[in-house]
Amino acid sequence: MEKIAVLDFGGQYTHLIANRIRRLGVYSEIVHNDVTPEELNGFKGIIFSGGPHSVFEKDSPLVDAKVLELGIPVLGICYGHQLISQTLGGVVRPGNQKEYGLAFIKPSKSPLFEGLSDHEQMWMSHGDAVEELPANFDVIATTPECTAAAVQNLEKKIFGVQFHPEVTDSLSGMKMLENFLDICGCAKDWTSENFVAELSAQVEREAKGKKVFLLVSGGVDSTVAFALLNKVLGPDRVMGLHIDNGLMRHGESDDILDFMKASGFDNLHIYDAADEFLDVLKGKFEPEDKRNIIGTEFIEVKTRAQAKLDLNADEWLIAQGTIYPDTIESAGTKHADKIKTHHNRVDVILEMMEKGLIIEPLAMLYKDEVRALGEALGIPHDLVWRHPFPGPGLGVRCLCSNGVEEKISDAEKATIAEKAGAAGYESVCLPVKSVGVQGDGRTYAHPVVIFGERDYKKLDIVSTSLTNLVKGINRVIFGIHTEGDKSYRLIEGYCTKDRLDKLRAIDHVVTQAIHATGEYSTIWQMPVVLLPLVNSNGDETVVLRPITSQEAMTARFYPLSDKAIKMIIDGVRNIKGLGDVFLDVSNKPPGTIEWE
Ligand code: XMP
Repeated sequence: MEKIAVLDFGGQYTHLIANRIRRLGVYSEIVHNDVTPEELNGFKGIIFSGGPHSVFEKDSPLVDAKVLELGIPVLGICYGHQLISQTLGGVVRPGNQKEYGLAFIKPSKSPLFEGLSDHEQMWMSHGDAVEELPANFDVIATTPECTAAAVQNLEKKIFGVQFHPEVTDSLSGMKMLENFLDICGCAKDWTSENFVAELSAQVEREAKGKKVFLLVSGGVDSTVAFALLNKVLGPDRVMGLHIDNGLMRHGESDDILDFMKASGFDNLHIYDAADEFLDVLKGKFEPEDKRNIIGTEFIEVKTRAQAKLDLNADEWLIAQGTIYPDTIESAGTKHADKIKTHHNRVDVILEMMEKGLIIEPLAMLYKDEVRALGEALGIPHDLVWRHPFPGPGLGVRCLCSNGVEEKISDAEKATIAEKAGAAGYESVCLPVKSVGVQGDGRTYAHPVVIFGERDYKKLDIVSTSLTNLVKGINRVIFGIHTEGDKSYRLIEGYCTKDRLDKLRAIDHVVTQAIHATGEYSTIWQMPVVLLPLVNSNGDETVVLRPITSQEAMTARFYPLSDKAIKMIIDGVRNIKGLGDVFLDVSNKPPGTIEWE
């Protein structure tokens, strides 16, 4: 198999570059920037990623200059482009003028730009820029703001681009990356047939004739891993355990069990721990407290359940559904990955890995490849394309409170009312808080609900300006259904069966609605959040949080269709104890995808 190395300089798009290359049919691996030239032998091409650093910083990540003398084609992106120039004797200008967003390049003739027009939209995000080229380099694209937007040394096959071909806003970016792969002379042999065959052989090898135990969470990764193990080793050598923590979505545990049974795999055991989880969550309302309790309880239940199964270590290995981004540390690794990494890389697991007692059949794959594998293994489309779901499940979507109000200041309330009013919206500040991400860190602030015209463009503007203006809020939500008089009262509410059932019911209605309208695949994720707030009729309120995203780093709220909204409101009317419905119209930042 031919492969490309992506040298990681800490860029948030490092994974995206590696993933794009694989989508073009060539296997790629992320490699630390301090890799030795010898370690890169065997790669057909090298890409230097972007990064948040400046080549002028004292500790900025560097590369061994000999990497550029290997005779292997190199493409530098953004910081990678500047680093190539600096390393080879060019001059980089410090960024007193920053350039973010869309730029139009005028490419010259170069194999890198084969098939591109003479006016191409690319996405830029940089401060520093290459001012003087190293010897034997030519400029092959310029923009009005950037003279060396792309450069090449054709003889050595070294290229540098200031823009980011890997992001979708660079419309011909994929074509450019494909051209680079052609320059590298790569065979496009990373196809789903090839990797299914390769992984199957690997599983057989690593299992060493033993049996394999796997925890099946209900998510795509562990479901696919379980199906793969069954296919390769046969059900007699595989055992799966699914812990139902009572925080799952409607039918989630049953769906997995049904599929496994229908596939002839009767080796998945369900351990119903709902009561145990609800018991430890009794009276808890602080988000971090809840999260820790759920995590700790999971480990305890798992240990108990495994002990009950009495698996003899001489006979059994443990499998994990870890996927590639979980195993590679990069500045671009998202929050959820870090949490997962934490679970899959705890000390005891690392020790077992060293002893060869853990196998991770999906550790080479990105999410889209896991899905392709799932489809190839015959897992139903809806299961394979499920939206991501957080480990603590509905536990982080059932907001709790001890009933003690935390109010926003009167001054901020007045500013919000004035600003929203000027845009034609009525506003109500809510006495709950949710998580957000503003500047460098997480925030914990109030949402404001606004009522008026559902014009998504206008809502986007109002939402952004309100959260920019008022420190005490990090989200704007829009009232799409009101039954009371728009006054909301905080209640004492915890993760109880009654509230979770209510949340499960509305979450199910929402999932069905967006499947029915065909929006499920466009929406990246859609948390449904139950608030500890009641309307003037005493009914609880919910927030819909549909977003589009690439890998959850940033997100935009998704403009839900009229049809889906109508179906959801009809559904709410049939759920006892539920009243008003809000649509979250905040992007990330300032809001996060989940509410806690
Ligand atoms: P946020 O809310 O930070 O979420 O924008 C980014 C992605 O991470 C998921 N997420 C979690 N996943 N445990 C998980 O396994 C968690 O505690 C958790 N919190 C957030 C979230 O669903 C989204 O996909």
